[in-house]
Amino acid sequence: MTRVLDHVGIAVRSIQEALPFYQEALGLSTFHDEELSSQKVRVAFLKAGETSLELLEPTSDDGPVGKFLKSRGPGLHHLAFRVEDIRGDMLRLSSQGRAPLETQPRPGARSHQVCFLHPKHAQGVLVELVEGHGR
Ligand code: CO
Repeated sequence: MTRVLDHVGIAVRSIQEALPFYQEALGLSTFHDEELSSQKVRVAFLKAGETSLELLEPTSDDGPVGKFLKSRGPGLHHLAFRVEDIRGDMLRLSSQGRAPLETQPRPGARSHQVCFLHPKHAQGVLVELVEGHGR
């Protein structure tokens, strides 16, 4: 089993203000953007070779990314790994005592099914599992 790093999530106050560095300094380009109203966040994906960066801008202070920014400031928010059977992985992790934060997969960006694993399992890093290969 090879795990692929699907994307790296970065919390930002403003996608518009963050983009010039990633585009002009690093030469990355945006291939998708979307608002996830259920998560009170707007996201922009930039291609970075085989993986991507996901810039996350809160649309409200009381959503998960809004709260993250308030307590930690902008920066690394999560690592997302691609999986083929998210429900199977969620069961496997639960049986290991590493139950995901969600009990069921939920819709994420790009029409993928996602869940998150508590940072305590990964040395302080929030980990997302992503099922689906659509861009
Ligand atoms: Co993500």
